[in-house]
Amino acid sequence: MAPIGMFDSGIGGLTVARAVARRLPHERLVYFGDTAHLPYGEKSAAAIQAYSVKICDLLLRQGCKLIMIPCNSASAAAYELVREYVGSKARVLNVIDPIVAHLGRAYAGRRVGLIGTRQTVNSNIYKKKVDELDAGIELVSLATPLLVPMIEEGFFQNAISDDIIAAYLGSPALAGIDALVLACTHYPLIKEQIARYYAGQVAVLDASDVVAADAEAYLRAHGLLAPPPDDPATAPAHHFYVSDFTRSFEASTQLFFGHEVQLEHYPLWE
Ligand code: DGL
Repeated sequence: MAPIGMFDSGIGGLTVARAVARRLPHERLVYFGDTAHLPYGEKSAAAIQAYSVKICDLLLRQGCKLIMIPCNSASAAAYELVREYVGSKARVLNVIDPIVAHLGRAYAGRRVGLIGTRQTVNSNIYKKKVDELDAGIELVSLATPLLVPMIEEGFFQNAISDDIIAAYLGSPALAGIDALVLACTHYPLIKEQIARYYAGQVAVLDASDVVAADAEAYLRAHGLLAPPPDDPATAPAHHFYVSDFTRSFEASTQLFFGHEVQLEHYPLWE
């Protein structure tokens, strides 16, 4: 059965890969982390678009039936272009539409906050899509650029990260919200800290589960779900490619995927 392709600026998208692998245990994943170009959150839309198209070529060559973009920054900057580029060869799913649909179902008439990279927040794409719903949702956003390097350096679940999180979430821009969207691959790792900050007063929405459910719904509706293997003990052979390999990237896969995975160096830019 054809695999599900995914691409991200690096290994942070493994939070979504993990949610997909848990929900759809028979699916084989081909993951590409563009570690040579991270962070996407600080790149121009034009640069992210160029990287994304080249990565999609690779995922199409691998025969992917579906291409997921777990990266919010790439979903914001390149989804429309990638969808046109890929055409009928595969379906492309971003992380933004399933979250917006969820907000429409659960938060009509409410004030909702969102945090993400500069690229995601400055693109204003969540607000445009939420406004199109016409559901009376007031979406307010804050770029929180310190959070990705903080998490990558292992600063979470400690006092320093509590202070940084509190400084961002205490911003007047996010006052009075009923829910907060974590619009970045890395933020599921600090979801508990954020929930603790709000002490149950604000719902904290982690995109990875919503996105995995969206992928399942799409595959089911199109008869594309992988069947269970003949031998139930056989696990699908996922591949995790990166455009630049370092041992520290590989060690960090533990953080995002729950256990360490072997990264294969695929130098797409040489
Ligand atoms: N993957 C990016 C995102 O979800 C975060 C890391 C980066 O800036 O590259 O926006």
